[in-house]
Amino acid sequence: MADSAEKAPRATANRSTTPVSDAFQAYISTNWAERADALPQPREQAPYAAARRRSLSERFPGKRLIVPAGAAKVRSNDTDYAYRPHSAFAHLTGWGSDAVADSVLVLEPTSDGHEATLYFREAAGRDSNEFYANPEIGEFWTGPRPSLAQVAADLGLATSNLAAFSDVIDSVDADTVVVRSGDRDVTDQVDGRRLLAADTEALEQDADDELAEFLSEFRLVKDEYEIEQMRRAVAATRLGFDDVIADLPQITAHERGERLVEGTFNRRARAEGNTVGYDTIAASGPHACVLHWTRNDGPVVPGDLILLDAGIELDSLYTADITRTLPISGTFTPIQRRVYEAVREAADAAFAIVKPGIRFREIHAEAMKVIAARTAEWGLLPVSADESLEPEHQYHRRYMVHGTSHHLGIDVHDCAQARRDLYADGILEPGMVFTIEPGLYFQPDDLTVPEEYRGVGVRIEDNILVTASGAENLSIGIPRTADDVEAWLAG
Ligand code: GLY
Ligand code: MN
Ligand code: MN
Repeated sequence: MADSAEKAPRATANRSTTPVSDAFQAYISTNWAERADALPQPREQAPYAAARRRSLSERFPGKRLIVPAGAAKVRSNDTDYAYRPHSAFAHLTGWGSDAVADSVLVLEPTSDGHEATLYFREAAGRDSNEFYANPEIGEFWTGPRPSLAQVAADLGLATSNLAAFSDVIDSVDADTVVVRSGDRDVTDQVDGRRLLAADTEALEQDADDELAEFLSEFRLVKDEYEIEQMRRAVAATRLGFDDVIADLPQITAHERGERLVEGTFNRRARAEGNTVGYDTIAASGPHACVLHWTRNDGPVVPGDLILLDAGIELDSLYTADITRTLPISGTFTPIQRRVYEAVREAADAAFAIVKPGIRFREIHAEAMKVIAARTAEWGLLPVSADESLEPEHQYHRRYMVHGTSHHLGIDVHDCAQARRDLYADGILEPGMVFTIEPGLYFQPDDLTVPEEYRGVGVRIEDNILVTASGAENLSIGIPRTADDVEAWLAG
């Protein structure tokens, strides 16, 4: 029962032992019990995804909108990375970690809006070759896929077999817009058709860019479902940090203790959610000065600090992004505590100004006032704090080259294609979720700082929700003052 959406198996013929005879094919196709085809209730996210599709429809009247989930990505040869659908697709369908690869959401324009259809490769029949002989997607190998009716009920969305998506491609015209980063193959097909329709060699991509911007920008303000997911992601992440603290005796005993930190945290991520929202940063000792240290192959040595930047991504794909910096021995040295509390002061100062109506970039500016003041006070800057804060100086940034905040949600760096006017220069609104994550990093070979500072790296990162009257720190329950961190480790 081949159809055009059936995937050809990858080349493993040289080692395949699968019987190929007609007799075997006929035999394995039969004598299977009927499946109960019970339809699920719509998932909690379904009405929210429907509302998002309505916003999208209103913004692009008369346009055919194509939002691919994307293909599985090859890791090497015939093994793939774990599949994750494109974030815009997940946002608009509510299909997260359980999405089927190669799916495509299409919004077809109608006289009064759009009609949404989700194209996906539905379950193959037991009379198909795929069923038992395709290691990439066959049910014997990777488990059952849902039926069209099941997904339609689950997501509250019309569904169609992926084979029928070729009709959509056939009807592509100049009024078709595609999420270009979704699936290269789909984008190439759309581009080819649009070139034909326009009878030109120069491809017009402005509408695609506008679509990408819109899909980023309308995620800047989270709905109540998303805010609840963020709370759950933070709660799960807290458990992962607790696990790491509980495992510290084994971690410090292992020559690659950072790997054990990663493994312990990631174990919790797989248990509670889909996976981690980004590669765990387990940065001990001077590795804490490497902002995105993910090699994680060093020891975890008592007397040093360990910077753990980690977040659990739920099955809905919403992720937390939390950093805590812990004294491995259980207590901070005086210099570690001084640096730690300066970073916390910067975080608290930034948090204190968050409320609707301020500009996003003011949060960073507020944190930088503290970072400049403290590094000047410690005699590290060639000028005063005020002079250093002038745009043409910024000497304090030597010790914190990264920004203080980024939006957070279904992507760890959410809304990344939003225009500057709405992001860095944007005005805060209730429902926005972002990080506040100042740090101080004194590189082990930095000759501008006294020796006792060298190799000390601290970051404190919290996940912040803008409320009607101010802000809520969603991760306030994860200990963050120096005293509370010491008590956490002691407990
Ligand atoms: N974990 C990456 C970041 O904090 O942005
Ligand atoms: Mn972050
Ligand atoms: Mn982080």
